[in-house]
Amino acid sequence: MPTYTLNVNGKDHAVNVSSASMPLLWVLRDVIGLTGTKYGCGIEVCGACTVLVSGQPEKACKFDVSSAVGKPITTIEGLSPDRSHPAQKAWIANQVPQCGYCQSGMLMKVAGAMQAGHHGAEIASEVNNLCVCGTYQRIKQAVAGL
Ligand code: FES
Ligand code: FES
Repeated sequence: MPTYTLNVNGKDHAVNVSSASMPLLWVLRDVIGLTGTKYGCGIEVCGACTVLVSGQPEKACKFDVSSAVGKPITTIEGLSPDRSHPAQKAWIANQVPQCGYCQSGMLMKVAGAMQAGHHGAEIASEVNNLCVCGTYQRIKQAVAGL
């Protein structure tokens, strides 16, 4: 079994995995135990599994673990220690989540857009993740001030 060292939320994790092509999502959830990142479609459509890899939003369901070696990974658990990231504050202020399942992926997509220097409507146009509960309008409101 290959062993890789992944840097997740600023901490190194040595992981034993069954194959170099195991999806990063599996490793984050089942090997490291960070379950904030969700499995939705598994085919790169819904965005529930979005994490940042070297600051870029990536869909972890289709990102090979071996490709993540040497690149800093940020999951929802590492976005801030105390819900103080501006996107998290905006989400709380606008009461965005309903069931919440898609929301960590939404927040990571927004965080990546912010890290790229984007704002407001520009971010809204980039967030194409799916939400079965239909929180799109509140997401639009929340990102308007970012
Ligand atoms: S679970 Fe990865 S895009 Fe849907
Ligand atoms: S809040 Fe329920 S799927 Fe988006």
